Amino acid sequence: MSKVNLRELLNKMTTKQKIAQLEQLAARYFTKNKTDITGPLRDLGLTEDELKIIGTNLGIGSVEDMIDVQNRHLDEDPNHIPMIFMSDIIHGFRTIYPIPLALGCSFDDQLVYECSRMAAREASVGGLQATFTPMVDCIRDARWGRVMESCGEDPYLNGIMGQAQVKGFQGDDISNPGNIAACVKHFAGYSAGEAGRDYNMAELSEHSLRQVHFPAYKACVDAGVKMVMPSFNVLNGVPSVANKWLVNGVLRNEWGFDGIVISDWDAVYELTQHGVAADLKEAALLAFENGCNIEMMSFSYISHLEELINEGKISVDRLDEYVMKVLEFKEELGLFDDPYHGASSEDSKKLFLCSEHREISRRAARESAVLLKNDNILPLDRKLKSIALIGPFANSDDINGAWSCAGRRNECVTVKEGIRNLLPEVDIKYAKGCESYLNDRNISGFEQAIVTAKSADAVILCLGEPSDYSGEERSRTELTLPGMQLELARAVIDANPNTAVVLFGGRPLELVELDSIAPAILHMWFPGTEGGNAVSELLFGVYSPCGKLSVSFPKKVGQCPIYYNYTNTGRPKSRYIDCDKFPQYFFGYGLSYNKFTYNSMILSSHTIDKNSSIKVSVEVTNEGCMSGKETVQLYLRDLVSSASRPVQELISFKKVNFEKGETKTVEFEITEPMLRFWNADNEFVSERGEFEISVGYADHMKFTEKFSLI
Ligand code: BGC
Repeated sequence: MSKVNLRELLNKMTTKQKIAQLEQLAARYFTKNKTDITGPLRDLGLTEDELKIIGTNLGIGSVEDMIDVQNRHLDEDPNHIPMIFMSDIIHGFRTIYPIPLALGCSFDDQLVYECSRMAAREASVGGLQATFTPMVDCIRDARWGRVMESCGEDPYLNGIMGQAQVKGFQGDDISNPGNIAACVKHFAGYSAGEAGRDYNMAELSEHSLRQVHFPAYKACVDAGVKMVMPSFNVLNGVPSVANKWLVNGVLRNEWGFDGIVISDWDAVYELTQHGVAADLKEAALLAFENGCNIEMMSFSYISHLEELINEGKISVDRLDEYVMKVLEFKEELGLFDDPYHGASSEDSKKLFLCSEHREISRRAARESAVLLKNDNILPLDRKLKSIALIGPFANSDDINGAWSCAGRRNECVTVKEGIRNLLPEVDIKYAKGCESYLNDRNISGFEQAIVTAKSADAVILCLGEPSDYSGEERSRTELTLPGMQLELARAVIDANPNTAVVLFGGRPLELVELDSIAPAILHMWFPGTEGGNAVSELLFGVYSPCGKLSVSFPKKVGQCPIYYNYTNTGRPKSRYIDCDKFPQYFFGYGLSYNKFTYNSMILSSHTIDKNSSIKVSVEVTNEGCMSGKETVQLYLRDLVSSASRPVQELISFKKVNFEKGETKTVEFEITEPMLRFWNADNEFVSERGEFEISVGYADHMKFTEKFSLI
């Protein structure tokens, strides 16, 4: 622990200096060739002197910049208080791993933990001490552009993966270099914006918030996450950062969260846009009173808190409490002892993209891939003489993904390179065919694609959505494969039916037609740095795909929001005139090159009470021809209770490796707390009665048994 006496430090700070600790400013304003004070800095309403005392920094570009900025800051800040450098690490720092939606499909929280550890190590030498991850917004509407940042639609899976990320980034002690603080976001209901439009208002009942949306945030709070970011959206009439029930009530009082609440980018200013604050001053008051400790890029605090204190609207004690929280956070990060937290240009060169990190990323890419269809086309024979590699993603580093922090696209292994790495001898014939953008309807590349397809033993057709179709303000009203890609698929498959489609992208797409024409579809999402290597290892059967969908794929966009854990209507057959109610591919679905046979499910008892448990033993055999992994998924249904319960809810899962021919018994334990739900009075209770327990997924349950809570 540092020798700095934080109380003494606080006592000698001026009010302005204190308030500046609660501000977060983008890195570009600090770097050497920083924007002139007459430029954007002036527009932010900041003076040169204020710049010197700002508490935290967002999105620094390099370790060299971080060291330089911290050095200058320590010189110029009259109190020499180190800044915290924070940034978004969505799927890797420099070594990029698959997007979170893909990681959800791995059903492997240990792997997600390892990915986060690796990112934390790289980020720490790379100059960061905190990150705005994990994002655990519950995904139910693929139109939204940010679905790729979350681990999917299931509250339980999302919570487990969120916890793995928190533990991975933070380690045991955030003062140690190699560990960085995590921030769970976006609290709450950001994913439920009306009509899938980014930033849009969400109307969610308390029941649905507690039952569906809150559990993953709560899981991260329970795992000790250091920061929470309220969401941009209006939730039930009040924007989250000013939403007292949400932040002060649920987060602080009910869950006992005592860490830092940081606003999203400019969200405090946006209170004026939402029409809940007349001006920036009122916005400052609302956010501050609601427990927002740091505001990101709004500067309402530095512009107005002093005035609000002088007017007696905010107490000095409350200000001191917030500032102390930030100072304590800096101390906890060890910054008073080592303001660089292990940042080192030299070490970063050794660590970034090292073989150990590449291996983790590659494994994650393999484990996250989902085999959606396979009419005995895959795996491809490694002795093939020629391969036609076709499509806009066949030789593209866009597969690196959408939001890759310090990652560089040109460091990503493309599919073409991955195949070449695995099969140095094979004749690769490449044709792009077409582009992957909505308005690009140019088909002049089709002819060459057809000729190429005809000339090869097999075709690998790489299609998808470009990475910049995912992310903020990237909502869509259609979920089609953009541009002429479906037409390209028709032409290529027609020319050579021995075609495997490999898909890339950050959201579920409508794949009904592609599924009807393609003999095989392997979904890789955005797999990151080692993407191309992972693709070839899967296509050519070095490994069997083992991912299971973390999110439902609608048949038609009009089915959105769609999810597996719905409650029945009074008329369970309810459907659309032009479509049934089911997705094209369900949550939990994913094929393998193996055949896993579920032999039996045995319950140790058919009754349970508050003090007992039921052991569920599921016997599974790998009847396939290679070793491989299967995720055994356990679902619950509460048959009759005071609130209508979902037809299925994932309550546990285990991903298990099976050798060829191997039989294993996979065991689960059911306890009474797993049977609890939020009742009509918003109490978390279990109710006596009958339950169903099933193993399998969605409409493919292998066994279902009943038991009673007595
Ligand atoms: C996003 C957050 C992100 C922040 C900082 C915002 O626009 O909504 O998810 O953490 O920017 O980059």
